[in-house]
Formats: sequence, structure tokens, C-alpha cells
Amino acid sequence: MPLKVGRGAAAPPFLVMDVITAANRLAARLPAGSFADGQAVIRMEVGQPGTGAPRGAAEAAARALSAGAAMGYTEAFGLPSLRERIAGHYATHYGAAVPAARIAVTLGASGAFPLAFLAAFDPGDAVAMAAPFYPPYRNILTALGMRPQLLPTGPETRFQPTLGMLEALDPRPAGLILASPCNPAGTMLPPAEFRAIAAWCEANGVRLVSDEIYHGLSYGTLAETTAAGCSASAIVVNSFSKYFSMTGWRIGWLVLPEDLVRPVECLAQNFFISAPHVAQVAAEAAFDCEAELEANLARYARSRAALLRDLPGAGFDRLAEADGAFYLWADISALSNDSEAFCARMLAEAGVAASPGVDFDGTRGGRFLRFSYCGPEPAMQAAPARLAAWLGRTQG
Ligand SMILES: Cc1ncc(COP(=O)(O)O)c(C=O)c1O
Repeated sequence: MPLKVGRGAAAPPFLVMDVITAANRLAARLPAGSFADGQAVIRMEVGQPGTGAPRGAAEAAARALSAGAAMGYTEAFGLPSLRERIAGHYATHYGAAVPAARIAVTLGASGAFPLAFLAAFDPGDAVAMAAPFYPPYRNILTALGMRPQLLPTGPETRFQPTLGMLEALDPRPAGLILASPCNPAGTMLPPAEFRAIAAWCEANGVRLVSDEIYHGLSYGTLAETTAAGCSASAIVVNSFSKYFSMTGWRIGWLVLPEDLVRPVECLAQNFFISAPHVAQVAAEAAFDCEAELEANLARYARSRAALLRDLPGAGFDRLAEADGAFYLWADISALSNDSEAFCARMLAEAGVAASPGVDFDGTRGGRFLRFSYCGPEPAMQAAPARLAAWLGRTQG
């Protein structure tokens, strides 16, 4: 008898992982000095800061370990002191009153999604999101038997959904995922539009899930808006992975609406027991590392400015509004309609790795790719000239 395989086993791969593997192989094979610009393979495929945890965070973890702290399970929602610190962040950063009782510390934002989705939605429920989108939104929802409802977006709406798109949904979806800044486009919703969408969700019984993982990483074009400050029913997802530069520590958090606090707590107890104790200690200390974190932000800002200035001359002249995160979403339709093949060639021939757009938009992603600019600054600065040479352009 053939054995049954569950629908979760049908989750598609994240193609960028294949690019990472290919870039690792190429980097291992090429001797130093292979490129005239003195840089090695330029890594613009990964969405993780090249820096590690801020020093103060790592030192807090080391201190706790050498003091012999037991590092057992914590409460399912995390260390009370960390939850207080996160609540304080809403007051100081956004002027929003969020009680620590509504904060749940999770295993990264990734660990927050199944908790949020299971608490808010049922199998069969439709959950809307812009396309292009961060692939795990769709893949986790699908694995849980929920129905991702894609809203195709383009540069005219900054790759973000609009009230008009939502109004056109009949029947209304059970939920909406917003991300501002978003991955892969790096674009943001203007604050008034964000608030209008949050109000529409409340008025229409649509649960808003606001992924705010790229908050702290924006470049002054638009203000960051937290759903925690404008909706009592929204679920906010955030993480220490991006602004705080702590991907491998696996700490994120949820701001929960009152009605979902206890349900998510029960789910979290059963799914994960708790997030790693030592990483929570480090995360709490990361709030005191502002100087280092702001220096990271300044570096991203310089890399972003250099790329926005020089990529168009290299042939990548259709870039989404780069409001935040550390991504540039490039429309490469003038160069190729097969971004997977294009990225493979760009890596093999120019030594520049980027993510093919098909990961983020199965329908239109063939004519897009995503550049990530959180890597080392000299490499980011060198990328346009190398790409220009590859595409046979001369940069003015
Ligand atoms: C939009 C978005 N949300 C969530 C995540 C997951 O982050 P983590 O689980 O590291 O907190 C990522 C990671 O790249 C992301 O880009």
C-alpha cells in the first residue's frame, strides 16, 4: 500500500537557496583576485545582514552563559523583561501604547506565522496578499490548508495593495497580509493609505496581519506605520533578524489583539514551548545597541544610494521605489523574460548573485530579480560596474 504524504510536504522550494548554493560553490572554486575589481563573488541574493549580532547583545549572552545561568525553557510568551522591553519600544519608537501582556516572543517571525495563522484562520479561509510576496506567506498558509489570495501589484501602487483592490474582493477574505517595507520590492505604503487599509480591515471583518520585520530599515521617503498603533484587531509580526542583525538567534515577536492572546499562548505552549532562552537574553540587550545598529543602517543607506545611482547605467533601469528593507526589485524584461536563467548566467559569468523573481511571483516573476544590498559595502559599490561590463555597457 502506498503511504499517504501530507499536503504540507508539497511546499515548494525557496529558489534563492539554490542560488546561495551555486554562489558558495563558485566562491570556493575561484582563486582570490579572479575579478579585476578585487572583490570576490558579489553576494546580492541573501536577505540577511552581513553583520552579526550587535556586540552588546552577544556579550550579554556570553555573560549569562559564563555566569552559569540554567537556560531552561522560558514562559511560552518569553522572558517578562524582554516582553516589557518590546512594549517599551512601541512607546518610544512609535508613541503607541502596547501592554507587554499582548507581546508574544517567538522563534523568529517564521515561528510567529503558523501561530498567527492558526489562531486567526481556519482551513479553507482565503488570506489576501500583494504579489510579489515573501514566499513563506503563501507556502505556510497552503500547508495549513488556507487559501492565499494573490493581489497582483506593480510600480503604480508601489507593489502594495490598494483599497480599490480590497473592495473588489467578493467574498471578503478572512485575512490580509501587509508588509511595509516589503520583501522583495522594498516598497512602503504611505501612512495614510496604511491606516485606511487597517480601518477597512476592521470595518469588513478582515484580520490584518502586518509583517513589520523591516521596520527600522527605511530611508526617509515614507514614515513607518505600525498596525499596533492604528488597529485593535490587527496582528503584528516583527523580529530581531533584520534591523537588529540577529538572524541566527531566531527571536521574533507578535503583538496580539486581546481576543487572540490566550489562543496564541496555548498554541505556542504546544508548538514550541518557548523561544531559546539565551537568544532572548541577547535580544533584550540589543535594544541598548543603537549606535551599532544605526551604523548598519547608515551603511545600507550608502549602498542603496550607490546602487540607485549606478545600476540604471548598467542596464537595470526599472527599479521599484526603494523605500525600505535592503532590496531592489528590478524589472529586467528588457534583458530577459527568464529570471532564473538570467540569474544563473549573471552568477556564472559576472560573479554577481541575485534572486530570481519567480520565487516571489510565480506569474510575472520571470521578468524580475531581487538585488539585496545588505552585504559588505565595498562589494555593493563594485556591483554596478561589474554588471555594466558584463552587459557590455559603459558607465557614464
Ligand atoms: C518579509 C519577511 N518576513 C519574515 C521573515 C522571516 O524572518 P525571521 O524568521 O528570521 O524572523 C523574512 C526573512 O527574510 C522576511 O523577509
